[in-house]
Amino acid sequence: MTNNMFFIANWKMFGDFRSVNSVKKVIKFSKNKKYSKVQIVYCPPYTLIDKLLRVTKNSKIKIGAQNCHFSQNPGPFTGSINTDLIKSIGAKYVIIGHSENRLLGDSNHIINLKIKSALKKKLKIIFCIGETLKEKRNNKTNTILSSQIRRGLKNINKNNDIIFAYEPVWSIGTGIVPKTKNLEKQVLTIKKMIIKIWKLKNPKIIYGGSVNQKNINELKKISLIKGFLIGGASQNYKNFIDIIKKTIN
Ligand code: 13P
Repeated sequence: MTNNMFFIANWKMFGDFRSVNSVKKVIKFSKNKKYSKVQIVYCPPYTLIDKLLRVTKNSKIKIGAQNCHFSQNPGPFTGSINTDLIKSIGAKYVIIGHSENRLLGDSNHIINLKIKSALKKKLKIIFCIGETLKEKRNNKTNTILSSQIRRGLKNINKNNDIIFAYEPVWSIGTGIVPKTKNLEKQVLTIKKMIIKIWKLKNPKIIYGGSVNQKNINELKKISLIKGFLIGGASQNYKNFIDIIKKTIN
């Protein structure tokens, strides 16, 4: 297990000003030399980005947004935030293609525009891909994943600013994680797809979907996985720290 693993907290639509205290605990924990190479990223709701940027200022913890609008220019898009606004406030990452947003209408084409816009602003991207339960049952997993990768990255030159997050939709928030052997095989297939489609030698692939302090000992066995995108368990600092400790120990 390498030490420079990613632990990315996706708070989704949870968290208010009181959640800041839990981040302070993680900052303190992250100062331990043992975890000096670990990459911790918090993606809170937009409303907390500024606050968390201030709190994490003298730490190695980075802050990201959970989504962005595809337009590179300002415009009449009520309720939306684009990569320019995310960059200007000082965040370094953005999650793009999360299944919860695909469900709300983000097509592969829109995701492609969002990725282009984020790259232009030099943001690091957490690019989510994953199949639904129906697609899995219909043996469509690899077709779906390869199309998400191909269309999401269309006309984008290979680069190291994209982290690929494999999040099977059926695993998100369900407590169900793929069997270790199956997940290992799937991640290897994804790696091969990225190499073939994008000619990138060593893509960074992380896993998301019901990661918690109980199943992490099993998940960490898969050396192809370079980190985790964590929803529910990242909201509780004790669980989040526990996950990091167990992975790195
Ligand atoms: P859970 O960890 O709550 O299953 O959420 C995973 C996820 O969607 C992270 O982006």
